[in-house]
Amino acid sequence: MFFIKKVLILFGGKSTEHYVSCKSCKSIIENIDKKLFEYEVVGIDFDNTWYKFSDDLSYLEKGNWKDANILKIDNIIKYLKEFDVVFPITHGNNGEDGKLQGLLELFNVKFVGCKTLSSSIGMDKVISKVIFDSLNINQVPYLVINEEYSISDIIKKLQFPVIVKPANGGSSIGISKADNKKELIKAIKEAKKYDDKVIIEKFIIARELECAVLENKKDIICSNPGEIKSANEFYDYDAKYVNETSYTTIPNDLKEDVVNKIKDYSKKIFKTLNCSGYARIDFFYDEENEKIYINEINTIPGFTSISMYPKLIESIGITYTDLITILINNA
Ligand SMILES: Nc1ncnc2c1ncn2[C@@H]1O[C@H](COP(=O)(O)OP(=O)(O)O)[C@@H](O)[C@H]1O
Ligand SMILES: [Mg+2]
Repeated sequence: MFFIKKVLILFGGKSTEHYVSCKSCKSIIENIDKKLFEYEVVGIDFDNTWYKFSDDLSYLEKGNWKDANILKIDNIIKYLKEFDVVFPITHGNNGEDGKLQGLLELFNVKFVGCKTLSSSIGMDKVISKVIFDSLNINQVPYLVINEEYSISDIIKKLQFPVIVKPANGGSSIGISKADNKKELIKAIKEAKKYDDKVIIEKFIIARELECAVLENKKDIICSNPGEIKSANEFYDYDAKYVNETSYTTIPNDLKEDVVNKIKDYSKKIFKTLNCSGYARIDFFYDEENEKIYINEINTIPGFTSISMYPKLIESIGITYTDLITILINNA
């Protein structure tokens, strides 16, 4: 018997990617199949308060949804139980790192995307690296620093230029390139604003290729890789969200072998991390040396209708609306 599923779309959260999440949420509301699903929308504020949102979508576009018509939810657990499926589109810390997923799992709420463990591993760039190593997938030389570190050791091990990242983060927030000692010290200080654990990697010149993985019933589908054409020297926050000369494309000049390797690695990573639903897996391709490096996995990838993930899925013949349907039905 056919019944209309009740879906709760969750956005926002205490995350540096809060505003990106507002936009992803807006796209889902605009495109979710209203014949198949009934839905409510909830915004999570920076202080973790949950509010039901039922106002004009322009508030989500601008990010000022707290000014809209909203209603505080007092008993979150009781409220969650009213839904068949939760769709968390909460990018970044607290929403994509397993904490929210843990809450939902604990209370037996079905939800879209990766479960607690795969979400936590995917968010932590250091733990991810350990797993990528175990799968024998190339990574650029890197080192991790906690409280104590020696600048001269870093320089000796990696040599400039390097790129410095908070271990947990996203949207390139807190990430900077360093060409010399002074810039390195500044970059570490910047990354430490977001996480005590910091990764320093050799900065490489390479093409940035991304693969969309989608679970449909028991099948794991991998798209051909998409490519980032960054407006800046690397795909920093400005290049991702501000500078309109950045663009994404699905290249047709990649050797079949490269495409297949990227798809194989992506599937392997998705399975090893025990992912569910979807993930976007990002690589570097050093064309000159014909070397592929894994960069990272995103378990709640950018999800506006023009984001890379939906675009890649569209390239394999699944529309954005059908993608949302598959994800909800697979939860
Ligand atoms: N080792 C590297 N060499 C060159 N550029 C890099 C390297 N690591 C990251 N970048 C650039 O920085 C961007 C953001 O880094 P990433 O690790 O993907 O963090 P985030 O989780 O914030 O997306 C990448 O998209 C890429 O443009
Ligand atoms: Mg990235």
